Amino acid sequence: MSAMRIAGGLGLVVGLGLAAGPGFALEGDADRGERVAGTCTACHQADGMGMAMPQGESWPRLAGLPAAYIAKQLHDFKAGRRENATMMPFANMLDDQQIVDVAAYYAQLAPWPSLPDDYRAADPGKSAEWLAERGDWSRTVPGCNQCHGPNGQGVGSHFPPLAGQHAGYLAAQLEGWREGRRRNDPNGLMRGVAERLSDDEIASIADYYATLPERLAASGAPLTGEDAQ
Ligand code: HEC
Ligand code: HEC
Repeated sequence: MSAMRIAGGLGLVVGLGLAAGPGFALEGDADRGERVAGTCTACHQADGMGMAMPQGESWPRLAGLPAAYIAKQLHDFKAGRRENATMMPFANMLDDQQIVDVAAYYAQLAPWPSLPDDYRAADPGKSAEWLAERGDWSRTVPGCNQCHGPNGQGVGSHFPPLAGQHAGYLAAQLEGWREGRRRNDPNGLMRGVAERLSDDEIASIADYYATLPERLAASGAPLTGEDAQ
């Protein structure tokens, strides 16, 4: 059963090679991108790690996100498929070349933590862990990791990492899909997931992923896929 589900997730990966926008044929240059990023650091910080804002809008970590994912998001903000009043003006300032350049810059800035990539038996008593690993098939919610990879560390250019991203930002994205402010997901994949989640589930799954790398490290789990057998 789980093999079938995984195969289904991989089918989606293959089916998603379609998100090409006008800037995608251009080649990004990280050195040029560093100059573009001068306007981004006020929020995303000089190290690209963003910042958690407990009472307000969190600024997401960009460092180490896949370049094609970053570029897609910038095009999506410009096209209004992703609405955010804070971010939109900064996306609008960029032309197609600047988009691929700044995406190349942030993509190479710092790697995300490398988490174990073996399958862990989820504890049914821990609802966020269960949702991440197994989902809730009674409500047709797939496990998040089926698309976002083992321990939510991301897969390829289409499925961004969740583990280690700021909780307030993750929760805001799930709410955005539910409320239609973010409409940029291929085939409505995320909207279908988000609209089935309760407010409590959104808060707890966001916190689960934001703190997962620290918790795995504290539990002594080896933080590389190779050692995780
Ligand atoms: C004034 C603060 C601010 C500035 C300056 C800013 N951003 Fe953002 N950025 C945000 C916020 C807030 C979000 C989250 C938006 C949302 O919730 O949809 C965001 C989201 C993003 C995302 C989406 C990340 C993801 O995981 O999907 C990208 C990519 C991004 N910004 C790139 C940039 C770039 C490149 C620049 C500079 C050209 C920039 N930002 C400047 C505040 C800012
Ligand atoms: C069927 C595949 C699929 C499943 C299952 C899935 N996601 Fe996603 N998710 C995606 C895709 C594709 C994107 C990127 C959409 C885009 O291009 O903007 C995404 C993006 C996200 C983002 C935005 C990240 C960022 O940097 O902006 C969050 C948060 C998220 N997913 C959370 C979840 C959670 C929580 C679950 C489980 C409850 C989940 N996802 C299950 C496919 C999936």
